[in-house]
This record gives sequence, C-alpha cells and structure tokens, in this order.
Amino acid sequence: MMLNNLKIGTKFNILLIIVFIISIIVSGATLSNVIQGRAQYEVASQALVLMQMVNSVRYYTQNRIVPLLTPKLDTETAFIPEVVPSFSATEVFENFRQTPEYKNFLHKDAVLNPTNLRDKADSFEIGLIERFRKDSNNKQLSGFRSLPEAQLFYIAKPIVITQQQCLRCHSTPDQAPKSQLVAYGSDNGFGWKLNEVLGVQVVSVPSQEIFANAKRRWLLVMVLLVAIFAIIIILINFLINKFVIQRIRKIEKVAQNVSTGDVDADFEENSNDEIGGLAKAFNRMKSSLKIAMDMLNNS
Ligand code: HEC
Repeated sequence: MMLNNLKIGTKFNILLIIVFIISIIVSGATLSNVIQGRAQYEVASQALVLMQMVNSVRYYTQNRIVPLLTPKLDTETAFIPEVVPSFSATEVFENFRQTPEYKNFLHKDAVLNPTNLRDKADSFEIGLIERFRKDSNNKQLSGFRSLPEAQLFYIAKPIVITQQQCLRCHSTPDQAPKSQLVAYGSDNGFGWKLNEVLGVQVVSVPSQEIFANAKRRWLLVMVLLVAIFAIIIILINFLINKFVIQRIRKIEKVAQNVSTGDVDADFEENSNDEIGGLAKAFNRMKSSLKIAMDMLNNS
C-alpha cells in the first residue's frame, strides 16, 4: 500500500487534511443553507409586516374616515381622495419611503383597469394577476424581482372586491360621485365585479443588502473555520514531531551505533511513556548483548 512508504508525519497530515477538507465542505454547505434561509426569512417578514401595516391604514380609512367623509362626497364639488382606502395606503407608504434607507421599499395596488392610472399593472404584475386568476385558492405569491435600481423580494396578494359599497365608485360612472368623474374621468376604474381578481397588492423590499450581509457572515465563519483547522494541523505536527518522531530518530541513531560495535552508546530516555519503555528495553537488550559478547571473547 502507498501509505506504507510515507513517513508518520506525512501519513497523519494526509489523513488530517482529508478529514478537514470534508468537514469544511460539509459545514460550509450546511451553514450556507442555514444563513440563506435566515436571510430569506428576514426579507419575507419585512415584507409581511409592511403589508399588514399598509392594510391597517386601509382598514382605518374604511372604518373611520369613510363614515365621516362620505356625506361630503355629494355636496363638495372637488373630490376628496382621502375617503379612498387605497389612496391613504399609498400616501402613507410614500411618507414611509421618504426616509432615505427605505426609498427602495415599494408598495403598489396594481390593477388591470385602475381609477388612478398610476396604479396600472405592469407586465410583471399582470403575470401575477393571471396566476391568481388561474388558481383561486392561492392567496399569496412571493419571489425575487430585479429592477434597475434594486434587487427586490416581493409579496403579492390578490385584490378582490367583497363589499357591495365599493362598487358605488367602481361599477358604472353614473353611480359614482360627480366629483370623482371630474377628477379621474369615466373611462377607467369602472366595470369591476365582486369576487373577481382585479389586481395585486405588491409589497417589495430590497433584498440585495440582506443577502450580501448573509454572504459576508458565511465567509467570516468559513475563514475562521479554516484558520482553526490550520492551527490544529500545525499544533499536531509540532506535537508529533517533538514527542514521537524526534525521540524515535534518536533511538534509531543509537541502535545504529550499537549495531556497528559502539556498545557504550546509551538509549537515554527519562520518560515513562511507550517510547521511554522502548528505550529501556533497548538498554536491557544492549546489556545482555554486552554480557554475551564478553563471554564469547573470554572463552
Ligand atoms: C367614493 C368612491 C370610492 C369608493 C367607495 C371606493 N373607491 Fe376605490 N378608488 C376610488 C378612487 C377615486 C381611486 C383612485 C384613488 C387614487 O387616486 O389613488 C380608487 C382606487 C382604488 C384602488 C387602487 C387602484 C385604482 O383603481 O387606482 C383599489 C384597489 C380600490 N380603489 C379598491 C376599492 C375597494 C376594495 C373599495 C371598497 C372597500 C373601494 N375601492 C371603494 C374611489 C372609490
């Protein structure tokens, strides 16, 4: 076998290095999975919290503002957009985005036929709407999306009208407040039907930073791991060399001298471990050899 031709130190090192490489690969892959999963969880929970927050604003408008302002819709000549839940949600989210570190967070009520053309679904959002229409049991989609300004993680929920009162402004123009028609026109945002997927509510959070951080953490742990393994290998080499190899070499040299006739050469060993035991046995053997030689010489 090939290992037989190698020195003890080399054998140890080969085995250690194989074991270390395997453990580094296995722990690297496992750690990468765990850290990646954590990062994914982090972006997803950010998106979910924001969506819940935005929808709370919507409920507030629906329950508190609508009763206050609805009577005014028919008397005032100018439309009061504050009465629209989607308007308050969009405005509040815009305020949130004013803080520079949140400027890449996005919220959109993306609708195929919107009242405010700003809310028109783009081709990506149309794809999501179609997926919700195909599978009506599906209540949430999520994934990654690349925009020029940022890599985003998005969560999308279907927009479905379940309340009859919404249809006052979204079914036919003649039912809608006059002021709404003046403000938004009568061409779009009408003809919506109950329980139909009209659009998607999408919340996107920038994911690049979070995943870059995760990767940095992984790299740091891996560098540490490799460093620890390197220190262990150096230490083991030092110990084997000092406590085994050098002492065996010394015994080998003395045995060499004894075999060529230098019977006064001594296997000095003070230690009581296995190599010390070997040296003592050699010393005894040398004494017996000396006695035998003397007997031979005297006869
Ligand atoms: C008083 C009329 C009115 C009522 C009632 C109303 N909406 Fe709207 N809705 C609007 C207007 C006007 C807009 C556009 C607001 C803007 O400029 O952001 C709008 C926007 C929306 C949008 C965003 C997409 C778009 O069309 O621009 C959604 C989604 C929406 N409404 C759903 C609802 C739901 C659900 C209800 C019932 C809970 C409801 N609306 C009730 C007038 C109304």
